[in-house]
Amino acid sequence: MKRIDTTVRSIRKVAEGYFELRFAWELPDNGDPVIGDPVIGDPVIGDPAIGNPAIGNPAIGNPAIGAPSIGGHVNGGHAGDDSPAPGRFVTIRAGGRYDPALRRPFAFSDYSPDAREAAIVFQLRGRGTAFLADLKPGDPLDVLGPLGKGFGSPPRSTRPVLVAGGIGIGPMLYLASALAARADAGLGEAPTLAMGFRSAAYVPGLPLPPGAVVCTDDGSYGYEGTVADYLAGYDPGLPPAFYACGPAPMMAAVGRLAAARRAPYEAAVEQWMACGVGACAGCAVPLKSGAFVRACADGPVLDGDLVDWEASL
Ligand SMILES: Cc1cc2nc3c(=O)[nH]c(=O)nc-3n(C[C@H](O)[C@H](O)[C@H](O)COP(=O)(O)OP(=O)(O)OC[C@H]3O[C@@H](n4cnc5c(N)ncnc54)[C@H](O)[C@@H]3O)c2cc1C
Ligand code: FES
Repeated sequence: MKRIDTTVRSIRKVAEGYFELRFAWELPDNGDPVIGDPVIGDPVIGDPAIGNPAIGNPAIGNPAIGAPSIGGHVNGGHAGDDSPAPGRFVTIRAGGRYDPALRRPFAFSDYSPDAREAAIVFQLRGRGTAFLADLKPGDPLDVLGPLGKGFGSPPRSTRPVLVAGGIGIGPMLYLASALAARADAGLGEAPTLAMGFRSAAYVPGLPLPPGAVVCTDDGSYGYEGTVADYLAGYDPGLPPAFYACGPAPMMAAVGRLAAARRAPYEAAVEQWMACGVGACAGCAVPLKSGAFVRACADGPVLDGDLVDWEASL
């Protein structure tokens, strides 16, 4: 994890209320140490993954569930390294130095080592994202990351079934391209990506992988119905391994599908966050066991079978 003073490469609207922001991804050679800013809540601890004690609520401290079921990350992606792997995220200081006060978290939607460029896809929501939407190429950008734990590699001879909705579209597109590249290299099966949107206006104008299925609630584009409706009748041809990111009802529905098929399920949660580095317990995710984990440090990719989705709704 490093703080990077970087530059906007491009920004464009890709759907109703959605933007793609691409920015230079060049890590400082020996790492810009994370210098805390107590006034505005920047982390004052180092990287929790490399041994600093977690300061959060002890009740939240069972970090053992970061995507164990599928095992082996798609592209690096554990919190101790600097790879912008699918499922990991950055926090961006959006706006002036103190407004809004907290950094905003966004998952990587793409990363190109050759172009030294990373990207996010974000939805316009409030002050922070309004600031991002106003950025221009060449504008400075203050980024902290990569943070959190990414997706794991699918078990051998399973079909990766990727499910995306709403603001989950960015990380799932990135995971789809990483898994497709692995499959092209003979390292696994080609993924299926199913995406759900309210209507055609929300379908992003981004390159979609071959065979991607678009579902809209009103039938204005692709399959009419929810992505869960679509998947209920879908035959993956192999035992499935589910991966999902999106609204809690969709995540819960994928959880039911995975349970019914006794399939592994990796879920990237988008819990409200404060510090983003495991220090404040502000991102607690309830588990079925009654315990909690921190989305930012123990996730955001978690074993979806363990998460209490009903409590998250
Ligand atoms: C790990 C992680 C990855 C994320 N990845 C993406 C991404 O790839 N693309 C994207 O568009 N967004 C993503 N988000 C959500 C994003 O961080 C928020 O939308 C953003 O912080 C809103 O900032 P704002 O200042 O514009 O809105 P605010 O003014 O802070 O909030 C506007 C409204 O959005 C609600 N809101 C804000 N954040 C969240 C949240 N995390 N969950 C639910 N409701 C929220 C607020 O309650 C409020 O109603 C991610 C969040 C997390 C934790
Ligand atoms: S522990 Fe602070 S946001 Fe996760």
